[in-house]
Amino acid sequence: MDLLILVCHDESNKLTLNDLRKQNKSYLKSQNLKIFGQGNLHGKVKISGAKNSALVLLASSLLTNERIILENVPRLTDIEKMGNILKSLGIKLIQKNNRLEVDPKNISIKDLPYELVNGLRASFFCIGALLSKYGEAKVPLPGGCNIGLRPIDEHINGLQALGAEIIIEEGIVKARIKDETNKLRGTHIKLKCPSVGATETLIMAASLAEGRTTIENAAREPEIQDLCQMLNKMGAKIYDSGKEKIIIDGVNKLRGCTHKVIPDRIEAGTFLIAAAATSSSITISPVIPNHLEAVTNKLQESGSKITIKGNSITIKGKKIKGVDIETAPFPGFPTDLQAPFTTLMAIANGESKITETIFENRMNHVHLLNNMGANIKLNKNIASIKGVKKFKGMDLVGSDLRSSAALIIAGIIAEGTSRVYGLEHLDRGYENFESKLKILGIKITREFNKKTLTNKELKTNSDPADIPRYRAA
Ligand code: UD1
Repeated sequence: MDLLILVCHDESNKLTLNDLRKQNKSYLKSQNLKIFGQGNLHGKVKISGAKNSALVLLASSLLTNERIILENVPRLTDIEKMGNILKSLGIKLIQKNNRLEVDPKNISIKDLPYELVNGLRASFFCIGALLSKYGEAKVPLPGGCNIGLRPIDEHINGLQALGAEIIIEEGIVKARIKDETNKLRGTHIKLKCPSVGATETLIMAASLAEGRTTIENAAREPEIQDLCQMLNKMGAKIYDSGKEKIIIDGVNKLRGCTHKVIPDRIEAGTFLIAAAATSSSITISPVIPNHLEAVTNKLQESGSKITIKGNSITIKGKKIKGVDIETAPFPGFPTDLQAPFTTLMAIANGESKITETIFENRMNHVHLLNNMGANIKLNKNIASIKGVKKFKGMDLVGSDLRSSAALIIAGIIAEGTSRVYGLEHLDRGYENFESKLKILGIKITREFNKKTLTNKELKTNSDPADIPRYRAA
């Protein structure tokens, strides 16, 4: 992590993203995790701040001219990318360990640069804050060509309902407020699907709008509640976050504040699943146990013993039974833990069915698990699993964030040694993952290869071209 740490500490704007990309390219392609299999986890692990919260909290700092202090910010490449986007607008960022000071005093509104937004879907969520604070925003369409265009219609329709005029030209979403008052107008919005990002975009936009906005069929994810809590500290008037209908009374101005990011429920769930998959006993903290209820319920149903005490969860992995899961918006089973849970089910006793309902192309891990010895039949978004007794270790390439975690868990279970490549995905979303696994007793090391692997070499034996890429979560 040397390079990343160096970059996170950089307080100037001297490094361009192209510089970073050039460095990271060789840095990441030449690294892999070497995992000695048949590991067992034991002890305690500290859960980091939530990536998805921290990203949107950073975007919301665009709503004020005052200093925001964020605590418990995980050190991840996604956060670094969002930081670079804010820096490109003249915002000063000072990072000290997990504390990030955001000073928007010298902000100068410009179009968000394509190359920065393209690498991070969540950066599109800045559009609502920029529009309501500055009356206009030009933000490139999110995502990248390798995942295709994921819809942003809910964001756009909601902003239009609030009074924005929006056109999309040459891949840039250009939004401005029509009204001569230069303020968005509160309104009633009903989302077609409870999109997390759209709910966040619209909450930020409505916070500085004239009058009351209600968002029906809003997403209820904990990260949205975290955003609302921080905005309320800043002087916003948001009611009922965490419910299906959120009410926002617009205010004229928002002030600075200090806010601590909630614990990462997806990281927490990943460790619990890793423990269940290796019949291990670990304690994770800090967590907010009710954020993980759908996951702990399924782990219990599949045989693990779960004990909740305050902000910690202890799991004792036992004989694993096959159980079915279907991903759903919160409070349902999170799509972000579908891949790790599939690894667990692949070595369960009996059969199970995993149904992905949120995203279309989120089964990239299945063929790799099959290569390791799993017996999984994939029919569109339904994985039918017959549990096997063991996996064999091998070289693998993670092609998205959560499937990389699933492969690492598989490597820990497997007989022999595995190498997991594609760490640029893992490093987006898991802070010090291998160090934490090491603390829990897993033999895992990051290898720094002398030779930089080519794309072709990285694809060898585990990354068929017909599997669509996914890198949003
Ligand atoms: C967020 C999370 C991601 C998580 C996902 C679902 C962040 C940075 N990422 O992503 O980790 O997996 O929630 O819990 O917080 N949709 C539309 N129109 C829209 C927006 C979304 O149809 O305008 C659809 C999407 O295609 C998808 C579903 O809604 O099928 C959910 O997407 P959404 O909740 O928006 O996910 P993100 O906010 O991108």
